[in-house]
Amino acid sequence: MTILALDQGTSSSRAILFDDHLRPLHSAARPVTQSYPRPGEVEHNPRELLDGILSSAREVLARVPRGSVAAIGLTNQRETTLLWDRATGEALHPAIVWQDRRTAAACEAVQKAGHEDLIRTRSGLLPDPYFSASKLSWLLDHLPGARARAEAGEICFGTVDSWLIWHLTGGRLHVTDATNAARTALFNIHTQEWDAELCALWRIPMGLLPQVRDSAGDFGVTDPGVLGQALPIRGVAGDQQAAAMGQGCFAPGQVKSTYGTGCFVLLNTGSQAVQSRHRLLTTVASRLKGEVSYALEGAIFVAGAAVQWLRDGPGLIARPDELEALAALADPADGTLLVPAFSGLGAPWWSPDSRGALLGLSARSGRAEIARAVLQSAGYQTRDLIGAMQADWQGSAGMVLRVDGGMANSDAVVQFIADILGAPVDRPDVTEATARGAAWLAAWASDLAPGPQEFARTWAAERRFTPQMSQETREAHCARWQRAVAATLAF
Ligand code: G3P
Repeated sequence: MTILALDQGTSSSRAILFDDHLRPLHSAARPVTQSYPRPGEVEHNPRELLDGILSSAREVLARVPRGSVAAIGLTNQRETTLLWDRATGEALHPAIVWQDRRTAAACEAVQKAGHEDLIRTRSGLLPDPYFSASKLSWLLDHLPGARARAEAGEICFGTVDSWLIWHLTGGRLHVTDATNAARTALFNIHTQEWDAELCALWRIPMGLLPQVRDSAGDFGVTDPGVLGQALPIRGVAGDQQAAAMGQGCFAPGQVKSTYGTGCFVLLNTGSQAVQSRHRLLTTVASRLKGEVSYALEGAIFVAGAAVQWLRDGPGLIARPDELEALAALADPADGTLLVPAFSGLGAPWWSPDSRGALLGLSARSGRAEIARAVLQSAGYQTRDLIGAMQADWQGSAGMVLRVDGGMANSDAVVQFIADILGAPVDRPDVTEATARGAAWLAAWASDLAPGPQEFARTWAAERRFTPQMSQETREAHCARWQRAVAATLAF
C-alpha cells in the first residue's frame, strides 16, 4: 500500500507518493505564481493552488496501480487566507498570502489599543499581519457585501487546507486541523476552540469558521469526479508542524528548522504551552487522539526566498543550485552581510515595515560575496531564534537541531548553521520531512504506521554537522550581524 502526501506550499504544489516504510517513491510538482499587486502585498490564485495539487496528484496516481493508495495526507502553507462562496465553491478574492503586509496598520492599531496580551495569551501569537485574522478582517471590510453574506452563512473562510479539502470532497466538508487553526489568531490554543473575544476583536462572524479536527483522523473522501477515485483523507497539518512530525520531533526538547521560502524553527515543549519572553510564538505542535502538544516557534520570512531574489533580482545566479559554488569563491576577508527583510522582519524582531539591507560592502565585494551573504543569512537568523528559545525554556539545553527543506540540501548552508550556532546539526536521510509528516499522519490514522514514539525511532541522520568555527570568530560574526539588524530596524 502507498500513501499520497499533498503539499501545497508557497512556491509549489506537490504530490509525493510514499511506500509503506514512509519513503518517497514518486513525486510531481507545479509552480505557484506569486502576484505582488502593490509593494508588501502577496497573493495566490486559489484556483491555481487547487489545479496544481490536482494535476500533481493525478500525475503520481497514474504511476501506480489503481487501488494501491490507502489514504491521503495533506499539508499546506499556513495562515494564507481564503474566502469562498458556500453554494458555488468560487473564491471571492485571491488568496492573501502569509507574507502579505497590507494589514500592518490595522495590526499596529490593535496593538496600540492594548490588545496584544489578549491575542498572546489566547492564541499564542502576536498582532502581526502574518496571521490570518487581520487578513480575513480586511477581506470582510473590502469585498462589497461580504460581511452581510458572512452573517447570513453564505460564505466560508479557510486556510489553504480547508480550501483544498472543500474541493477534494466535492464541497462536503468545511474543516481544518488544530495546527492550522492555531495560526489564524482566532483560535484559543488552550481550550482548543475558536475564541469569541478574538473573533469580536477582529469583527469576524464565527459562522465563517471551519470545524477544527485532530491532525490524524477523518477528513472525508475525495469526490470521484475530482481525482478519478474515492480516496480517504486521513491526515492534515500545517507544513511546519508536519515537518516537525516528519523529523520525529515528538518529545519535549526536540527542535527542527525547515528552510523553504521562509525558515521556521519549532521546539517541542510537550503538554506545556510556554509563553515566550522573547517574542517567539506559542503554537500547537500536534493534536493527536485529542492530546495536544505545544511548540515554541520562530518564524523567519525569507530564507530560500533570498536565493530566488539572487536569481530574479540582481540575476547573480541562473539556478538556485549555483549558490553554493559561487559562495565558495568569496574572499574570506570580505564582510558583506545581507539582512533579508524583504517583507519585514519576523521573530524575534516583528518589524513589518523593515526592508532588506546589504551592509559591509567594499569595492572588492562582488557576486561571490553577495552569494555568501545570502547563504549565511539563513544561519544568522536561525541563531537568533535558537538563542531566544534557549532563553525562554530550560528544556532546550543540549538540544540538537534537525534541518530539512531545500536549502538544507546544501552542505555549506548546514555547516554554517552549525558553525554559527556552535552546536551540532543533524540532516535526516529523508529530507522530505514535511510530506513525510503528512504521510505518517494518514498512515497512522489508517492503521498502516506505528504511533508517534515508534515512528520517531525510524528517523535517521544522513549526516551530523559539527561546528568548525572558533568561539572568538563566532562571537565577532554575531556581533556584526546584530549591528546589521539594528541598522535595518532603525532605517
Ligand atoms: O507560515 C508559513 C509557512 O507555513 C510557509 O511555509 O514552506 O511554504 O515556505 P513554506
